[in-house]
Amino acid sequence: MTEEAKNVDIVVGPANHLGYSSFQLGGFEFSRDEYFVHIKWPKGKHVMEIDRFLRAMVRDIGWGFFYGWIFFDDVFGTHNHYGTVDIFAGAYDEGCKAAGIDYLETFTSDSVSKGFETISKNWINEGYDPLNAPMETGSPMGEKTRESDKPLLRNFIAAKRMLGLKGDVAVRSDETGHPINRAFADVPVDNPDIEVEPGFEGQLHAINLFDHIARSDVTWNPSISSATRNSLCCVTSEEHMLPVIHGNDRNEWFFQLSDEIHWKVQDKNTGRPRGIIVMKAGDVCAMPADIRHQGFSPKRSMLMVMENASPDLPELYASGKLAPYPIEF
Ligand SMILES: [Fe+2]
Repeated sequence: MTEEAKNVDIVVGPANHLGYSSFQLGGFEFSRDEYFVHIKWPKGKHVMEIDRFLRAMVRDIGWGFFYGWIFFDDVFGTHNHYGTVDIFAGAYDEGCKAAGIDYLETFTSDSVSKGFETISKNWINEGYDPLNAPMETGSPMGEKTRESDKPLLRNFIAAKRMLGLKGDVAVRSDETGHPINRAFADVPVDNPDIEVEPGFEGQLHAINLFDHIARSDVTWNPSISSATRNSLCCVTSEEHMLPVIHGNDRNEWFFQLSDEIHWKVQDKNTGRPRGIIVMKAGDVCAMPADIRHQGFSPKRSMLMVMENASPDLPELYASGKLAPYPIEF
């Protein structure tokens, strides 16, 4: 893939009558009107709600294209090869493939990242933040007003020590200025009791994780992440629907910490239905490596996700050397 990857700049076209520019990245053309994005490629075109498109695009950039596939909807999305990225249209949709209108082009990650950022900045007006839950932000619809000057992405603040221990540089939940979200008003946020054996003072600490997650102002985006070698753990608050359909290239473990999420699970390559999983507080599941899935959270909920980031996993699953699920019952 890498030798064919295009390292190109996005081409910015003139603004339309609503004030929005159109763009061209390789064989793909993007334009928007008041309600929709219009995507064209050789032999095909597609239309998608602008809200859905922007919520997916901003997360795709922020997650560094994440693991495997990010479907913005059933037709359009990206596939991460960790250094290069495919942008595809219809390449994982049976109908588009049968009609011969499927298309895929490989770029350097940098090209796609910069390109998507350019589109997002031009198309996001002040008052709208695609990382917020739909009920907690303005609308992306209508003509261009003024470009938002809020940062497109949220930066991570790296902790040096356990949160709350003397010398940690992370901002603690009660110092962020973020209030407890309306959906978590009934969540106990008292701090744990810590009893340290003499001689270990200042080395042991504990936090109330619910207190941190309850203050998150973004949805479907990590609030806290920890990395131990290739073992990643992140906690998030989820409301409305996961703005992308994620195609796994490895197993992914979900721990439902509060409330419930309904997961729609499909075959990764065809989109055929594989199942619906309703996860309630306390439920744990392993999403297999050969599926795509989208979550629906009717009320804001808390989810913990664990990923094995070992770089050799996608090939082991793709070649069938590893079964797509973690355990044989
Ligand atoms: Fe996933």
